[in-house]
Amino acid sequence: MKYLIGSDIGTSGTKTVLFDADGKVVASATVEYPLYQPQNGWAEQDPADWWDAVARTIRAVLEQSGVNAADVKGVGLSGQMHGLVMLDGEGKVLRRSIIWCDQRTAAECAEITERVGAQRLIEITANPALTGFTASKILWVRNHEPELYARCRHILLPKDYIRYELTGEFATEVSDASGMQLLDIPGRCWSAEVLEKLEIDPELLAKVYESPEVTGVVTERAAALTGLAPGTPVVGGAGDNAAAAVGTGVVEDGRAFTTIGTSGVVFAHTSQLAIDPKGRVHTFCCAVPGSWHVMGVTQGAGLSLKWFRDQFCAAEMQAAGGMGVDPYVLMDKQAERVPIGCHKLLYLPYLMGERTPHLDPDCRGVFFGLSAIHTRQDLLRAVMEGVTFSQRDSVEVLREMGVSIREMLACGGGGSSPLWRQMLADVYGCAVSTVASKEGPALGVALLAGVGAGVYPSVEEACRRVIRTNPPQEPVAEHTAEYEKYYEVYRALYPSLKENYKQLAAI
Ligand code: XUL
Repeated sequence: MKYLIGSDIGTSGTKTVLFDADGKVVASATVEYPLYQPQNGWAEQDPADWWDAVARTIRAVLEQSGVNAADVKGVGLSGQMHGLVMLDGEGKVLRRSIIWCDQRTAAECAEITERVGAQRLIEITANPALTGFTASKILWVRNHEPELYARCRHILLPKDYIRYELTGEFATEVSDASGMQLLDIPGRCWSAEVLEKLEIDPELLAKVYESPEVTGVVTERAAALTGLAPGTPVVGGAGDNAAAAVGTGVVEDGRAFTTIGTSGVVFAHTSQLAIDPKGRVHTFCCAVPGSWHVMGVTQGAGLSLKWFRDQFCAAEMQAAGGMGVDPYVLMDKQAERVPIGCHKLLYLPYLMGERTPHLDPDCRGVFFGLSAIHTRQDLLRAVMEGVTFSQRDSVEVLREMGVSIREMLACGGGGSSPLWRQMLADVYGCAVSTVASKEGPALGVALLAGVGAGVYPSVEEACRRVIRTNPPQEPVAEHTAEYEKYYEVYRALYPSLKENYKQLAAI
């Protein structure tokens, strides 16, 4: 038998899954670790925690399954993007990693825009300077910890640090490297121009591979720690969203997925490079060699509903506890009873500022149209509709860019709600389905490992063999027409409020 391992180094923990060649889960293990927040808006993690979690979970899946390590044909790595790992000349970690959600680098983003030029930055890196991305974190360390920066010899992303521990190689791959703001996205290689303008030594950066390529093999030392066989190939792998795309079969033109997790993502595959000149969505190299993906992000998607649950749904939480069901299932039942438009109530989901399409750290949530007739149930449904409208905004940017969306999948916690999926179908005006496997990123990188190890001939073929899609939910024309009236109002609200958000933030 041939087996494959996918490890997903997330923000709350690492999940490692052992699959057979049909993509069936044989064993799975998760280990959590802390997030350090030394100041408001800062977020750091310890790379040693990631490595400990990866080593322990790989060992656990091998032990649980009894699979012979020699039958594991390849390992794929996925994980949180953008985090900065700095190593000295001996390969020792120099400081905790500054991770993707850290927001300390506004001044460095201004510095990047100044040095590279706003237009040029979008042309090369396909994004305006973003606090979440790695380049601004590198400049922050150089500006604030110059002695430490002087000792830095290697810069790696979170999952690529794990690769270094497993194989001893300094390597990355195009999808994750796209989130560093140092990659030439059209050319799929480091940008000499950006590196020169930012005065970052290219020697610090890892070698860039395509995602299914073998980047190294497991060393004797790593084999002893993980239980893997020495010499097991480790492929490039992919950043979490690019990996989820492979794990859901979104690897061909016309395919897309919507995730409603804490944040929300609308992700579409494209074999033709498409960059939004206004920088409202991210264009990244995807895990299919020679292709890209375009991705819009809603900062507060599932987060909005969780906030509403925690603040206003104590009764549902208590009842759900007693009944042994998920409180969201009870909340869905209530929202179902409210008509589309929630008796003329709209919600803007900007609890954590917004990325797509407004890229505004200062905007905040709004209930608009509130009247004395409204009930808690109206507010609940308005939250779900507002998140859906925000994701429609991303779909609209993609449509404007000519990126085709023929098949839409729903993923994440919100994607498992039939009500929310129907809202997506009605508001997008297209069919929405789900995939049978729940393992998204871990399955995605295990399939990439299978391609690298020769188990499958290509990423597309691996997906055809393994990924199964459930029957879709179709849009209902009358619903679409009704939502459209509210979406028009929703779209007009942010431009009206833009200046007021600034005023509020300045107080
Ligand atoms: C992508 C992004 C997140 C992180 C953490 O741009 O910020 O998906 O990778 O999951």
